[in-house]
Amino acid sequence: MATLEVKDLHVSIKEEKETREILKGVNLTMNTGEIHAIMGPNGTGKSTLSQTIMGNGAYHVTQGDVLLNGESILGMPVDERARKGLFLAMQYPAEIQGVTNAEFLRAAINARRPEDDQISVMAFLKELDKNLSLLDMSEQMTERYLNEGFSGGEKKRNEILQLLMIKPSFALLDEIDSGLDIDALQVVSKGVNSLRGDNFGSLIITHYQRLLNYIVPDVVHVMMDGRIVKSGDADLAKKLEKEGYAGLRDELGLKVSLVDDNR
Ligand SMILES: Nc1ncnc2c1ncn2[C@@H]1O[C@H](COP(=O)(O)OP(=O)(O)OP(=O)(O)O)[C@@H](O)[C@H]1O
Ligand SMILES: [Mg+2]
Repeated sequence: MATLEVKDLHVSIKEEKETREILKGVNLTMNTGEIHAIMGPNGTGKSTLSQTIMGNGAYHVTQGDVLLNGESILGMPVDERARKGLFLAMQYPAEIQGVTNAEFLRAAINARRPEDDQISVMAFLKELDKNLSLLDMSEQMTERYLNEGFSGGEKKRNEILQLLMIKPSFALLDEIDSGLDIDALQVVSKGVNSLRGDNFGSLIITHYQRLLNYIVPDVVHVMMDGRIVKSGDADLAKKLEKEGYAGLRDELGLKVSLVDDNR
């Protein structure tokens, strides 16, 4: 079993004139075998949390720690974190010119394996074929340059293809459901669910309870103003869908403000 711990995490970003604190003490512990969901209003720091865990240098940790199996990963570059088993599907996947999707996937898999144990072309193609059919994707998608000209939904489906090929210990999935049609939502959910098991954990950022009908989370967290303000089981997402964030703010005695009052 692997564990990912976020402890009293404070994160700032540098803006033109000042630095602004986005995360103000986030605590979260998850184990492989578990799926956690994070919901929360726009601009409250959900993507910031995922980018910080993965090691994006734009986000500065001013206090607290992120531990993988008890070891701090804050000093590690992104590729080392990836080798240790972390994976991030970004809210806005980047396009890479001149690198085909298949080349990228093979390089990503091999970068995570020791030099004397690189995946063979045959094994790679077999695994690719299996996952393409699970995700109902055409082989042609893997010969195109990574994400270039992909539709919004194709990009998201492709993130899940990467996830299935790489099989990380922990996957941070940032709005993997945004822009998906109803069939694609089911396909993407099927992909994530196929990895569920003792060696896989996922932190799913979403705005919509609907995704959580397909990928039923063990824990749901609500983030507001840079903190996790409430955690519960899958029913918490249903309650939020019904009552909105204003209801929760009232319940928790937080200031009633639906815009980020952080500035
Ligand atoms: N790289 C950055 N440069 C400047 N500001 C940033 C950067 N990343 C995040 N921010 C700011 O930090 C705040 C939190 O952003 P973040 O993307 O984490 O929110 P979010 O909870 O993911 O929102 P959404 O639900 O809209 O995706 C926002 O005010 C955003 O403008
Ligand atoms: Mg976001």
